[in-house]
This record gives sequence, structure tokens and C-alpha cells, in this order.
Amino acid sequence: MMKIKEVATKLNTTQRTIRFYEEKGLIQPDKGDNDYRYYTEQHLWKLQTILSLREVGMSTAQIKKTLMSEEEVGRYLNMQRSALYEEWLEIKDMIGTIDQMIEKNEDQELVKEDIFALADQLKTLKEKRKGWQDQWNFDSQARGYDESLKMNGYRFNVHENYEDALAKAIESIRPLKGEKGVDIGTGTGNLGSKCLPLGAHVIGVDQSEEMLKVCKEKHPDIDVRNGHFLALPVMDGEADFITTSYALHHVTEQEKELALREMDRILKPKGRIAIVDLMFANAHDRARVIKGFEEEGNQEALYAIEDEFYADRSNLVEWFKQLGYTVHTHSFNDILHMVYAEK
Ligand SMILES: C[S@@+](CC[C@H](N)C(=O)[O-])C[C@H]1O[C@@H](n2cnc3c(N)ncnc32)[C@H](O)[C@@H]1O
Repeated sequence: MMKIKEVATKLNTTQRTIRFYEEKGLIQPDKGDNDYRYYTEQHLWKLQTILSLREVGMSTAQIKKTLMSEEEVGRYLNMQRSALYEEWLEIKDMIGTIDQMIEKNEDQELVKEDIFALADQLKTLKEKRKGWQDQWNFDSQARGYDESLKMNGYRFNVHENYEDALAKAIESIRPLKGEKGVDIGTGTGNLGSKCLPLGAHVIGVDQSEEMLKVCKEKHPDIDVRNGHFLALPVMDGEADFITTSYALHHVTEQEKELALREMDRILKPKGRIAIVDLMFANAHDRARVIKGFEEEGNQEALYAIEDEFYADRSNLVEWFKQLGYTVHTHSFNDILHMVYAEK
């Protein structure tokens, strides 16, 4: 048993901090007759955990919940990591904007309008990074997701060629032993897991905690991370390859351009990206396919297309080219395509 003073010295903190956590109900030391507080080895462990979680920026309320179970610790650490990545990216965006302002200023070109325009650009970017919302409630779909893949829509089957598309993505990427791949919108891990037998390390990113839970149960070797297309929880240049299937059509066309830039940020030079998703080859083809459904009176198809953001493949190709990538495309059917890009 230790007294508060010894504990504070041992944990390199202050008595006041320890008392604060006691007031917040995070720790309950034993009290002696003389009203002194006594701390056991277990109290010390708990305090050290609290201090460590504070160090990575968790609030006391979050820590209180986290301390309830081991599963909660993992969950909150994962959430905290994604929140920190978002903050980090926001700060990077701010620094980038300031750099541009300084550069213009040094060239004596900085006028008020520039400052407004650059600040506005930054504001839009911040709003986009923070603003995405899951309007499809993927958490509630997680448990039944794999089963739902087997069911065909009545008159519109988005999962036609699903397995072909996943196989083609892997065949194009050719993951190598020891490489690090990031599967975005991993869901239950159907695509990412195909890289594991080839010896690659796979980070599965998803915005849905329930999807990540099912993914982890199915594929314990996938490193699951909370995150989303516009703020990937991965360092710059860390990934050898990126895969994503049936996920990108949940962000708008404008957000897709930002998503490609975010992929570019985390990808190593010479890295590879395979996107298989619901999309149209180009605007002309979109009009042709939709007209076909209208003529058939296929409301199911029209509603499904309206409900999501099928990409314009030619835009993806153009954006990748602007970023300096070599791009190939493949078509599985009218609405399912692959864009493969090499940095
Ligand atoms: C239709 S499932 C596809 C899952 C898996 N990739 C597959 O091919 O079976 C779409 C997944 O993308 C995730 N998702 C949707 N929008 C996302 C976003 N903006 N960032 C990250 N994940 C997203 C969803 O949570 C869901 O798990």
C-alpha cells in the first residue's frame, strides 16, 4: 500500500491530479481511519492507464467508459486514433494554406482576395472532412451483410460479378509478401482478406464500427481501423497498395476527388490502387444506361442509382492522371468497373 505522495512521485504526476480523478469517480483508493488515502498495486495500474489515456487526448468521460472492459479500451483507442488523424490532417491543411499565403506574399502577389479565396478553400475542405454522414446505417447492415450478397435484387442486381470484381482487383494489385495494403470501406473484409494468404499486412479501414467488429471476427489478422475516405488513419507514404470495393459510391463526386488525393497521400511512390465499384464509364454512358432502365420501367434500378453516388469513371481516370498516375480500366458490366492506377 502506498500513500498519495509516493504514488504521485512514482507516476510522475501531482497529488492534485490524482485527487481530481478520484473526484471524477475514476479511482477509489482505500481510506484509512486517519482519512489518509491508500493505493494498492491495482490502483497504481489503473492510475497509470488513466494518465496514459489522457496523454493521447481522451476525455475523462471517455476514460471512465473505457475502464469498464478490455473490449472498450480497444474500441476507444481506435476511435481516438481516428480523431487524432482528423485533427492532424486539419492542421496539415492549415499549414499548407499558410505556406501558399506566404509564398504569394513573398512574390508580392498576395492580395486580400487571395487570402479570402485560400481561407475559403480551407474551410470547404474542413467541412468536407468532417461533414460526411452515413445515411445508409451500415452498422445495422453489418451482421447480415455477407448473406445479403447472395440475394439478387428483384430487377436490379448490384452484386452481379461481385466475386469476379474482387478477384480482378487482387489479380491487378498482386500483393507481395511483407507489403502493407489498405482496404478502404473494408466492410466485413471480403476484399482485404484475399491479400492475407499472399503474405501482405492488411489495414482495413471503415467508418462503421459494427462492420469492423464482424471483419475482425472473420479475419483476426486484418488490422481494423476506424476512419473514412477523407481522413485515412494511415501515415503519409505508408501503403504499398490500396484496394477498395463497393464503397467509393457512398461519397459524392466532389468528395471522390478529395478521396483520391487522400489515397495519394498515404501511398508510396510506385504504389498501386485498385478501385472496383458501381460507376458508369462516362456521362454519356450514364445517360444511356439510365434511359434503358426508364424504358423498361425499372424503378428498382432507378431508385438504387438515385440513392447513391455512382462515379463517372472518366473523372476518376482524369484525376489520377493529374496526380501523375498511369491508369487502366476494366468493365464488368454497365454499372460495375475497375480503375487501376499506378503511382
Ligand atoms: C457495400 S459495403 C462494401 C464492403 C466490402 N468492401 C465489400 O466489397 O464487400 C460498403 C462499406 O463501405 C463503408 N463506407 C461507406 N462510406 C464510407 C466512407 N466514407 N469511409 C469509409 N468507409 C465507408 C461502409 O461502412 C461499408 O462497410
